Parts: sequence; C-alpha cells; structure tokens
Amino acid sequence: MNSPFILINFKTYREGTGYGADRIARAASAVMEDTGVTIGIAPPYTDLRKMARHFSIPIFAQHIDGVGAGGFTGHTPAYMMKLEGATGSLINHSERRLTLADIEASLTAAEAEGLTSIICTNNIRTTAAAAALGPDYVAIEPPELIGSGISVAQADPEIIAGSVKAALKQNNQVKVLAGAGIQSGDCVRISLDLGCSGVLLASSVVKAEDPEAVLLDLVSKI
Ligand code: G3P
Repeated sequence: MNSPFILINFKTYREGTGYGADRIARAASAVMEDTGVTIGIAPPYTDLRKMARHFSIPIFAQHIDGVGAGGFTGHTPAYMMKLEGATGSLINHSERRLTLADIEASLTAAEAEGLTSIICTNNIRTTAAAAALGPDYVAIEPPELIGSGISVAQADPEIIAGSVKAALKQNNQVKVLAGAGIQSGDCVRISLDLGCSGVLLASSVVKAEDPEAVLLDLVSKI
C-alpha cells in the first residue's frame, strides 16, 4: 500500500451498523475510486462479511485474539476474521486493551493468516515497544483525545513526531498512523508531514450527516 491510508473504525456506534455501515462503506468506496487514496473500514464483526462481499476496499477487524479453532468461547480468532473477509486487524485499541503477551499472540495470529496488522498505542514509549514486535503499522492515539473532537494533529503534534521517531528507531519497516480527533484535510496533511503513512479515525466520519463530504475533505490535501 503506497498511497496514504485512511482507516475508519466504526467501533460500536449505532451509525456504523446495519444500514449505517453500508452508507459509510459506500462513501469510502466512492472516494477511494475517485481519488486513488486507500480508504479502509473496520466495521463491527456482525457487518464484516457483508462489507467484504460488497466493497472492494480494505476491511479490518476491530480486534483479534491469538487463539485458533477449538475451545475458546467468546473469542475472536484471526482465522475466523480472515474467513469472514477481513484483510487486516486492529490490535490493542485503547478501547480493547491487551496484555503484552496477548498483543504478541494476536500479532502472530494475524501474521499466520496474512492479515495486515495495526497495533494501537497510547504514548511514545508504547509505540516503540509495539514497533519492536514487527507489525505492519502502529497507530498512535492519545486516549484523552479519542472521540473528543480535538485533533491530535493540532493539539499534540509532538506525540506524532515522537512516535514516528521512536517507531522507526526500533523497526525501519514499520508504518505509523495518527489517530484521535482526526477530522479534516489539515489533520491528514499535518500527520503525513510528521512522517505518518496515514490516519486512523472514527467519529468525524461515522457520525457525519454526509460521510462522503467529510472523506473528500480528509483527502483534499494529500
Ligand atoms: O480508532 C479510531 C479512534 O479511536 C479515534 O476515534 O472518534 O477520535 O476519531 P475518533
């Protein structure tokens, strides 16, 4: 993936399930086709298969567990997400925190299934630790800004720059995404200028009256 990557996490927002999920995926697909910018979605598991069947865009699970088939009641094995049509997965989102051992197990499971891996982190030191594990991406998201409407790119560009530096010091192959409050073309531009390969976002698109208009603005300064 060489184009900047915009990943929309639907979380469990009502606006991002059922018909709402279709609406956002349609907008993502249209903007990706018109602009060539890679736009992925992380819908709830319950919508994942439908999204994968109808849309030719990257489809991410919101979480995977590092377990296989068998007696793992209530778990979300990577192989099942792959079967449902996922092409990648978030791991250790701030709203779905894992232990270090669990992060490593989820990453190993993602690798075994050929899923693109994104380990989410909350500060510069955890970004360095996550990058050392060797995922495809790390995503720096200061928890206090998630869902706040305040953009990390504007409120805390230092954490983005510090994360990029720390990640690359550990692993010069890893790519970095910035997340929390990302909402405009300016936020994306700042993130890219600070060395990121893209952004991870949710509410600005998922809760928008017109998700396509927000997406067009997000890609406008790439
Ligand atoms: O996974 C993306 C997320 O945590 C950021 O949420 O609503 O601040 O874009 P939001």
